[in-house]
Amino acid sequence: MELPTIIVNFKLYEQGTGDAALEMAILHEKIAAEMGVSIAIVVNFLDLEAIARRVKIPVFAQGMDPVGYGSHTGSISADMLFEKGAYGVLLNHAERPLEYVMLGECVSRARDAGLFTVVCVDSPEQGEVVKKYNPDMIAVEPPGLIGGDLSVAEADPAMIEKAVSELGRGNVIVGAGIRNGSDVRTSLALGASGVLLASGVVRADDPEMVLRDLAEALKRY
Ligand code: G3P
Repeated sequence: MELPTIIVNFKLYEQGTGDAALEMAILHEKIAAEMGVSIAIVVNFLDLEAIARRVKIPVFAQGMDPVGYGSHTGSISADMLFEKGAYGVLLNHAERPLEYVMLGECVSRARDAGLFTVVCVDSPEQGEVVKKYNPDMIAVEPPGLIGGDLSVAEADPAMIEKAVSELGRGNVIVGAGIRNGSDVRTSLALGASGVLLASGVVRADDPEMVLRDLAEALKRY
């Protein structure tokens, strides 16, 4: 995946599921193409195949189970996600946490299946712990700022610097409360390779305007 990047998680917001998810995905593809920047999206399992067939930007699943084919009722495997067109998988999100042993198994299975792995952590310290699983990227998101009005870039720039210095440049994206170009500029200036966000775009009155602002900041950096 091209870095730096903007990754937008559609979560289970009404504006980011079902028919609205497809429209939202097409908007993200349009802005990525028009502005020549790297934008990826993270979508609900039920929307993934239709979206992945329709857009060319990377489409991530919102999680998976640490299993292969077999007697696993209700489970989602990495192979299935890959077959359905997923580019990658977002793991251990604060809203879908995994025990470490499960997380390690998921990263390994996802990698074997050909998926790009982004593992979420709540701090640089937790990043140190999950680093041993060798995910492609670590997304550091202080849980208290998720979905709020204050971004991680405004509230805790020192944490971004620390994460980059401890986990390595090129390995870290940051998220929580990100909603404008200034947040993107600050995050990149502190060494992050991108941002992960959700409500700032998906719940915005004008998602296109916000996306353009974020993309402009990424492009100019
Ligand atoms: O997955 C991204 C997310 O947890 C951050 O959410 O709404 O603060 O951008 P939000």
